[in-house]
Amino acid sequence: MTQVIPATLIPGDGIGPEIVDATLSALDALAAPFQWDHQIAGLGGVQLAGDPLPQATLDSIRRTRLALKGPLETPSGGGYRSSNVRLREEFKLYANLRPALTIVPGGRYDKIDLVVVRENLEGLYIGHEHYVQIDDDPHAVAMATGINTRAGGQRLLEFAFEHAIATGRKKITIVHKANIMKALTGIFKETAERLYEEKYKGRIEMDTIIVDACAMKLVLNPWQFDVLVTTNLFGDILSDLVAGLVGGLGMAPGANIGADAAIFEAVHGSAPDIAGKGIANPIALMLAAAMMLDHVKLTDKSARLRHAIDATLNVDMVRTGDLGGTASTGAFTKALVSRIKNG
Ligand code: NAI
Repeated sequence: MTQVIPATLIPGDGIGPEIVDATLSALDALAAPFQWDHQIAGLGGVQLAGDPLPQATLDSIRRTRLALKGPLETPSGGGYRSSNVRLREEFKLYANLRPALTIVPGGRYDKIDLVVVRENLEGLYIGHEHYVQIDDDPHAVAMATGINTRAGGQRLLEFAFEHAIATGRKKITIVHKANIMKALTGIFKETAERLYEEKYKGRIEMDTIIVDACAMKLVLNPWQFDVLVTTNLFGDILSDLVAGLVGGLGMAPGANIGADAAIFEAVHGSAPDIAGKGIANPIALMLAAAMMLDHVKLTDKSARLRHAIDATLNVDMVRTGDLGGTASTGAFTKALVSRIKNG
């Protein structure tokens, strides 16, 4: 009998509970052996426990070291700090892995197979920001500090190289802005070049590119790239760009991998504009669940899940509205579960 795998489940806000339910149906159909510990965070955490990241949720992830998470709402401007960013810090989730693979053919860009590896803890996301008052304007000046460390960059780069080699990738492209932010992003480029010479030369190709040129080339000819590795802010932006190449946020999964835990989620947010309508596309979270199955080495189940998603979309032609179809979240999930069970 397969051993049970304890894991934390956070339904999240907005469309979170709808896409988490759909994903659980798929995992149940696969007989995935996760033993879920249900916890709350985000707006749900504030409403039910007075805290966007309750202690019980942190304790659960500390125990299971594995979580599947729906999107968490973060107020813009003021309000509480992002629970996502806090989770990354708390569990040192230094690598954010975001694959983008074409599943629905015939779109504006076909046959895309890219991976963005984003540094998740440093850079301009460390939250050292403040305003300076001048005369009677309290927001006259805004300041932010970015911090990138050699050790932090090296840890992420080693993860990226090892992952790329283990998954048969051919080329890593280091994305930076070292012509302007010479220290802040120069250290990342320099660390990559040194690491490549010392450890990875001959095992995989590596080149470097400035982020603005990278954005343009991704739009003109994305097939020239394979694995993009970059610092926090650039990774955030480029991974959404890359998600757009494969049909939008509804198709983009993400994994936050770290020293103390791994948390799997969709790249998209809580989509408050469509929450509760039963029309959200659950595929991004399902693909995140497939990455979670890979992480615990249940690769036969992850392959079955990916195959069933492909067949439901392209053979049964059942698609949600964001993909041009008319299926509800429930109808898509029902068709997918039937594909998982019947092949
Ligand atoms: P969003 O990703 O929630 O939505 C952007 C657009 O994409 C919306 O029109 C939405 O309806 C659509 N969309 C997103 N996911 C979809 C899906 N699965 N199926 C169909 N359509 C989908 O971004 P937005 O509106 O900027 O953020 C909403 C909230 O989510 C904010 O509070 C933000 O902080 C939070 N957020 C949380 C993330 C996380 O927990 N990892 C990531 C990004 C945003």
